[in-house]
Amino acid sequence: MDIFFEIHRDLPREGPGDDKSTRQALSFIRNLPPKPMILDIGCGPGQQTLVLAQNTTGKIIAIDTHQPFLDHLQRQAQSSGFSNRIAIANETMFSLPFPQPYFDLIWSEGAIYIIGVEQGLRSWRNLLNPGGYIAMTELSWLKPDPPDEVLTYWQNNYPGMVNIAQNLNIIKTTGFHEINHFVLPKSSWWDNYYSPIEARLLSLRGKYCNNPQALMEINATQKELDMHRKYSDWYGYVFYIIQLNT
Ligand SMILES: C[S@@+](CC[C@H](N)C(=O)[O-])C[C@H]1O[C@@H](n2cnc3c(N)ncnc32)[C@H](O)[C@@H]1O
Repeated sequence: MDIFFEIHRDLPREGPGDDKSTRQALSFIRNLPPKPMILDIGCGPGQQTLVLAQNTTGKIIAIDTHQPFLDHLQRQAQSSGFSNRIAIANETMFSLPFPQPYFDLIWSEGAIYIIGVEQGLRSWRNLLNPGGYIAMTELSWLKPDPPDEVLTYWQNNYPGMVNIAQNLNIIKTTGFHEINHFVLPKSSWWDNYYSPIEARLLSLRGKYCNNPQALMEINATQKELDMHRKYSDWYGYVFYIIQLNT
């Protein structure tokens, strides 16, 4: 098995996030139709999809390209009684096979970076009904002049990362306006994501002690966690809640 997926298998979340932040973001979206159509892009194992199902009355289509994550969500949707309102599809965010427009709300936690904020907003906006919303989280610089070590780390690992003002500017130039934004708490990085990963790295280090390639991947993941421990005041995940201009 690919070591990346061994590190990431069966985690509660596949990126920083928490139920309270999902609900908080949703609380800023006030005038959805009674039965909104919602698209969750890059849903992963779907923790936020379930929170959306619990806190809205609409239908949610959850898409991702990694089938084991979708299977996990399918099981969760069934056991929590939401399988009639959550539809799951293995589709890529680069080419979404839905009528245009179709959705009242697009949700995407920790996934728009894959297509890039600007390209994502420009293409996904065509799927939104007039006045539709996007709620997304995106890794963003929180303070100017980060120390060299963390600046270099993120320039190598996510060169597209910009600060909040720059993201708000992209939002404006792609035909949206901001409803609100907030920084996710540091606990949302660790409780459901980094802490379970760190525990797993420890056991995989033993299992792969004679496999240099696997150890490289394990060390690279550990480095990401160490960066956050040391420099989390400089960067974070930001929830951006935005609405299509009419
Ligand atoms: C950082 S994870 C976030 C998952 C989930 N939203 C969460 O917060 O737990 C990014 C997700 O994007 C998915 N992904 C990667 N490439 C994709 C693509 N081209 N289209 C749709 N999803 C993709 C990955 O499989 C992964 O589940």
